Order: sequence, then structure tokens, then C-alpha cells
Amino acid sequence: MYYPEELVEEIRTKNDIVSVVSSYVSLKKKGSNHWGCCPFHNEKTPSFAVSETKQMYHCFGCGVSGNVYTFIMQYENYTFPEAVKALAERAGVDLPEVEYSAEEKKRANKRARLLEVNKEAAKFFYYQLRSPNGERGMQYLQNRALTPDTMHKFGLGYAGVNGTALVGYLKSKGFEDEVIKDAGLATYSERRGLSSQFWNRVMYPIQDINHRVIGFGGRVMGDGEPKYLNSPETMIFDKRRNLYGLNFARTARAGNMILCEGYMDVIAMHQAGFTQAVASLGTAFTSEQAVLLKRYTDSVLLAYDSDGAGVKAALRGIGILRDAGLSGKVINMKPYKDPDEFIKNLGKEAFQERIDQAENSFYFEIRILSERFDMQDPEQKTNFHREIAKKLCELPEEVERENYLQAIAEKYLVSPDNLRKLVRSYAAVAESVRPIERPRSGIATRQSPEENAKKSQRLLITWLVDEPSLYAKIKQYISAEDFTDELYAKAAEKLFSGWGQADFQPASIISMFEDPEEQRMIGELFQTTLPTLESRQEREQAFHDILLAVKQNSYEYYSARLGVDAGALTKVVEGKKALENLARTHISLN
Ligand code: UTP
Ligand code: MN
Repeated sequence: MYYPEELVEEIRTKNDIVSVVSSYVSLKKKGSNHWGCCPFHNEKTPSFAVSETKQMYHCFGCGVSGNVYTFIMQYENYTFPEAVKALAERAGVDLPEVEYSAEEKKRANKRARLLEVNKEAAKFFYYQLRSPNGERGMQYLQNRALTPDTMHKFGLGYAGVNGTALVGYLKSKGFEDEVIKDAGLATYSERRGLSSQFWNRVMYPIQDINHRVIGFGGRVMGDGEPKYLNSPETMIFDKRRNLYGLNFARTARAGNMILCEGYMDVIAMHQAGFTQAVASLGTAFTSEQAVLLKRYTDSVLLAYDSDGAGVKAALRGIGILRDAGLSGKVINMKPYKDPDEFIKNLGKEAFQERIDQAENSFYFEIRILSERFDMQDPEQKTNFHREIAKKLCELPEEVERENYLQAIAEKYLVSPDNLRKLVRSYAAVAESVRPIERPRSGIATRQSPEENAKKSQRLLITWLVDEPSLYAKIKQYISAEDFTDELYAKAAEKLFSGWGQADFQPASIISMFEDPEEQRMIGELFQTTLPTLESRQEREQAFHDILLAVKQNSYEYYSARLGVDAGALTKVVEGKKALENLARTHISLN
């Protein structure tokens, strides 16, 4: 941690969240919360709630949550220390100068070190590109019609032909071999020591949403294999959970996000003014990335390549978006291969037209399907209609299904009545196999036992945060160790010990975690949506059920660890007793 915890907490309490958020978002008081339109996703009716008593915010639309620090980190793209500085200044609190001794540097955690080495490497590549050595790289990027501004914005760089220059530079800056290697910047061999991973390539730094460099993509200039060489996954580079360009796209507020396949596509789109473009990182689009996008938008446009592989990737992407509760559309790139080529040839106005004409993902799926059948052949035509019916069955809502049915019937000249009959017969089969109703939000169609367990843990924590007086009534049954999710357990521990102190606010816990992703998860943990129940009896029943579920899960968890984990036996014995006691205990809510 950069600053002492007490200081961080002092600054937090001196910056009332309602007044800080009000300087960015217009808020109206209603009930116990102040409401406004969420600044982190596009919306017209307010679902962003700021609680003065809790000193936290939560968006019921996109799910973001946190305290005053995370708010300005997200809004201003600040790192945590930057947020501390800004809020200290706002409240007139003096910050001590932070000095890094060599000793402290060594102790600084690995993640921070990896981020530092990447930043330094990015700087090195950046200057190389702009030096006489980098002429070839500069020529290449200019030929690809990138302006100096664009190259600067994306921090583009160049890795020269000297395979040890980067390593030498990083060492001169005090980075240890191990850090350089673990960041994926060099590989080690007995004979040659460290040699650069990237060599004779133009370099694309990959940044997380806070503009920190977490990895690199390097492209050969001209032909060569592989075309793009990427950093390997590291402690700070998780390819499933980051998107290229999201650090800029998150504040584009265009009402949609555009998902592309390549780095170059993103860069070309931003240069043309489409700053809502992002791309996955040399790997297929993932459900984690869909969840990430959902924080900023409800509508994702796919700008995938127009070739066969691109269509296949688009079909896959559509499914992932749908499961995440996002609406998907497909941009037609023809006659060009990808957005970069399209814009270079036809310009941004033409691309804007393609955005406006983007095809609804359901129509896209059916159209691609139709290409597999010869409509002149009655048998194939029938099969096509069956496939349409099956696809319609996948739509979770009756109204939606009927609307699409009518539109598709008209488009492909099928009798709507016949199509409806087919749909009914497939729906009957499908219903007997699996429930047709799917949750509109959240990824998991069928929740795994772990997901369910985590859900109960979140509900219990949120409930306690809402009604801290309950803790005294249940603390004989529950401890932080009952939270089987590691992060939740840490938060529970801080929460339970906090309630023993005066003037404690759960909001303080959020900023005890350094990683923005962890801060976000803690924010959510404290503000899960609780069931809305009318009667006190129902509420008491629900609370009891949740408590029991958490305890039961903990009991099972530790039972499975008997013999592996020395402390498990005590937990199992204690758990069994607590479960028995709980079964005959009534916990009253006031
Ligand atoms: P493409 O082959 O479509 O390249 O790969 P591109 O983006 O159009 O690149 P340019 O325009 O030729 O420079 C799409 C994405 O797939 C990943 C990269 O992320 C790339 O941007 N990729 C591709 C790799 O990781 N390695 C490769 O060898 C090729
Ligand atoms: Mn391309």
C-alpha cells in the first residue's frame, strides 16, 4: 500500500460521496438514496444509487459498485494512488511524500513490478520507433495510414533488430532478470541468458482500463510468421478479462461498443472517430469480456472479418453476447476484409452508414443458416424451416419469439402459422429437456454449485452491511472462514473485526484492496440486490435460509478437506454443531 490505511480512511471520510459524485452526475434524493443516470453505462432513466449513510454507490443497471475512491478511479481513469491524491487535495489533507528505498522496491509486490517493467519497456519501444533506428517501423505504420497522433495515443513502438537492447535497457533501470522474464519480455536460456521476446516488429502495448500496460502485441513488417506475436499470459496479463482499446472506449459514451478482431482494426476505427471500438487479445471473445462490456453498454456491434472464419467467430460471439444479456448486431464489411481496410477505402461516413444498417444478430444467424440450404429443393426448404423453428425456440421471451417469428416468416416467405406449429412442437420437446426460461442477466445459464455458494455468501454479507445489528445475533454461528471464496473471506474478516470498533463503515474496506478488480468485487459483495419481501416473517425465513446455506456450504467444503487441511477437522466439528443449533434457532429481525 502506498499510504497508511488510517490516512486513506481519513481522506475517505472527509470526502462525502454524495457531494463528490454530484460534481460529475446530477443526483436527486429519493428515499434513502440519491439517484442519477449511471456514468458508467449508457442510460436514460436513473438507476445509479448513491447512499449517504453507507458512503457507497451502486448501479442497478450495470452492476458497478464501490466507494468514493473507486468512483473517481473509474470516472477519471485514476490509479488508486492518484485517487488518493485527488481526494486528499479536495479535502485539504496533506499527504506525506512517498519515498521508495531500494529495500522497499524489492519488497514492492510482484504485480506492481511487472506493471513497472512493462511501462518501461513500452517507453523503450516508443522511443525506438521515433529514433533513426526505428525508421523501418515508422515507415510501416505510415504506410498503414496512421497519423502521429494515433501512434501516440496508442503508444505504438518498435522493437529493433538488436535482440538484447531492451534487456540491457531494463537492467540499467534496475529490473531484475526474473521480473523481465516473468513479464514475458524475454526468454531465458543457459547459453545465451536473457533474449528479447520481441524482435524486429512494430509494437502495440496492451493496456488495461486504467491505462496500465499489461502486455504487448508485436507485428512483423510485411510477411512472416507469426504475423502477431503476443506476450504470454502473466500475473498481470489475463487475456480472457481484458479488451484492447477499452481504456479509451469506456468513456466514448456512443450508446454502443464495437467489437473487432484485430488491434489494427481498433486503431483505425479510433482514428476515424469510432472511439467505442475494442478487440479481444489474439484469442477468441470470452464470456468474461462480455461481462466487462456490459458494464458500459447494452448494445454490442460486431465488426468481424467478412471471410468464413470471421462469420464463424461472429456466430460464436453472438451466443456469448446473448448469454450475457447483451443485444448484438453485425456490421457488414463487404466488399472489404476488415474495418481497417473498409475505412481506408470508403471512409468514415460510409462506415457510419454500415453501423446504422448493422444487422440484428438473430436475422444474421438465420441469414447465414439460409445459405446452407437450396430453397429450390422442397426437402431442403423444409429442413431450413425446421432450423428456423429451433432457433426461435432459443429465444427466452414469448413476445420476442413471436415478433421474430412474424418478421422471419415475412422475410423468407413462410406461412407464420406453419412456423408457429413447428416452434410449438420443438418448444414442447425442448421444455421437457430443459427449462426454456433463462435469466436475462448473468452469464451462467445453469449455475454451478460454487456460483450458488458464492451467491449465498454475497447475500449474507450485503444483508449484514445493511443491518449491522444482525451480526451480534449470528456471530456465534458464523466466522470469516465460512466464506469459501478467498476474497470474500478476507472482506468478511475485516468486516467482522470492524464491527468491534467505533465509527466503523464497511465502505472503508473497499480501499484496503489494491487491485481495481478486487475493489469492484468487494463493492458488489457489499451491495448485492437482496430479495424484496413484504412480511417480516418472510424476511426472517429468507435470512435464516441464507445463513444456513452459507454454513452448510462451509461444512461441506471443510469436510472435503479433511486429511488435506490441518484445520479442517475443527471446522467440521464446529460446523456440524452450528448447523444443528441453527436448525432449531429463530433469528428475529427488527
Ligand atoms: P488478422 O489476421 O485478422 O490480422 O488477426 P489484422 O488484425 O487484420 O492485422 P493486419 O491488419 O494484417 O495488421 C486478427 C487478430 O488476431 C490476432 C491479433 O490479435 C490480430 O489483431 N493474431 C493474428 C495473433 O495474435 N497472431 C497472429 O499471428 C495473427
Ligand atoms: Mn487487417
